Amino acid sequence: MSKYKQHIFICTNKRPDTDERGCCADKGASTIRDYFKKILYARGHKGKVRANQAGCLDACAFGVAVVVYPEATWYSLQSEADALEVIEKHVEQGEIVTHLLIPRSWACPSNTLKHVE
Ligand code: FES
Repeated sequence: MSKYKQHIFICTNKRPDTDERGCCADKGASTIRDYFKKILYARGHKGKVRANQAGCLDACAFGVAVVVYPEATWYSLQSEADALEVIEKHVEQGEIVTHLLIPRSWACPSNTLKHVE
């Protein structure tokens, strides 16, 4: 059993500017990762909820790609405000932030993931 209640994986993958897939690093991933760490700490989640830097999550078109476990909820974040909403609603209230979910049309490898219809 994990000592953490939740893990938040934030893709910070960087690709060359010439790569047509783009990457989360170019969409502000490091800023969002740092913000998660800072706010989780400030709100008393240190040791309970861990924000981890991740490599490519294969959801590049939706970057910054973030997945929260154990719920396996996939989010597409654009800003620190989006990250704060995930902390306030998902982490603290147990609610899925539906307007930030990666759409169901995404070719997801697992049917256990939560997506927008
Ligand atoms: S570069 Fe972030 S999901 Fe692929």
